[in-house]
Amino acid sequence: MQLEFCGICKQFGARPVLRDISLKVPEFQSLAIVGPSGGGKTTLLRTIAGLEKPDSGRLRIGQDWLAFTEQALLAHRRSIGTVFQGYNLFPHLTALENVMLPLVKVHGVARGQARDTADALFKRFQLLAHAHQRPAELSGGQQQRVAIVRAIAIEPRFLIFDEPTSALDPEMTAEVLDCIAELRAEGRPLIIVTHNMGFAREVSDRCLFIAEGQILEEGRSAELFSAPQHPLMVNFLAKVLRY
Ligand SMILES: Nc1ncnc2c1ncn2[C@@H]1O[C@H](COP(=O)(O)OP(=O)(O)OP(=O)(O)O)[C@@H](O)[C@H]1O
Ligand SMILES: [Mg+2]
Repeated sequence: MQLEFCGICKQFGARPVLRDISLKVPEFQSLAIVGPSGGGKTTLLRTIAGLEKPDSGRLRIGQDWLAFTEQALLAHRRSIGTVFQGYNLFPHLTALENVMLPLVKVHGVARGQARDTADALFKRFQLLAHAHQRPAELSGGQQQRVAIVRAIAIEPRFLIFDEPTSALDPEMTAEVLDCIAELRAEGRPLIIVTHNMGFAREVSDRCLFIAEGQILEEGRSAELFSAPQHPLMVNFLAKVLRY
C-alpha cells in the first residue's frame, strides 16, 4: 500500500502534536513507526485509522484521499483492523463472542457464518482451547492474540498496531510478535507502532521516525536502522539500543 500526508496539522488545545506533516511513503507492505515517547506516533496512527481528524491537511491511503466527513470516516474505520496497547476485549464476553460480535453487529454477517470464520481463525492461531474463556481467564498474550484474530476476522484492507506488546512479559511478547510476523508472511498490509527496534527492523520494509510532531526520517528499514541520518534518530537509537 501507499500513504501520502499533505500538510497534516493537529493540536490538542494549544499544543501542536502533528506539525505540518507532508510526505509520500512509497509502496510498502509493512510500515513501522518509531520515535520517542510523546512524539506523535499514536496521534498519526489514529489519524490514519480515521479515529482522529486533523485540523488541516490531507491524507491519501492507497489511491484514495480520505474525506474527513463523519460518514466517510465511519466507513473507513470499519474497513481496517486495529489492535491497540490494552487488549480492548469486552470483559463479559467469551473470546469467541468477542470475535463474532463485530462481524454480526457491524458487518452484518450471519451468526452461523461468523461462527465459522471465528472457529477457523481460532484454530489457525492455536486459540481453540480458549474460545469459551472470558478475557480475565486468559493470559495477556492470549488476549492480545484474540484481539488480533478479531481484527483480521473482518477482512480488513490493512491492519494497524499500536504498541501491541507493551503490557506483556518477554514470553508473551514473543508469542504476539510471532503472530504479527505471520500476518506479514501472509502478505497483509501492516502499519505498526513499536518500541521494539529489533522487531521493527525485522518485520517492516519501510520505517518512519517521528519526533516532536514531525516525520524526521523515512526510508527502507534495513538502511534506516543500519545508517540513520537525522541526529535525533541517531540519538534515539543509541539510547534505546544501549541495553
Ligand atoms: N487526546 C489528547 N488530548 C490532549 N493531548 C494529547 C491527546 N493525545 C495525545 N496528546 C499529547 O500529544 C502528544 C503526542 O502524543 P502521542 O500519544 O501521539 O505520542 P506517542 O508518540 O504515541 O507517545 P508514546 O510513545 O508515549 O505512546 C503528547 O504530548 C500527548 O500528551
Ligand atoms: Mg503512543
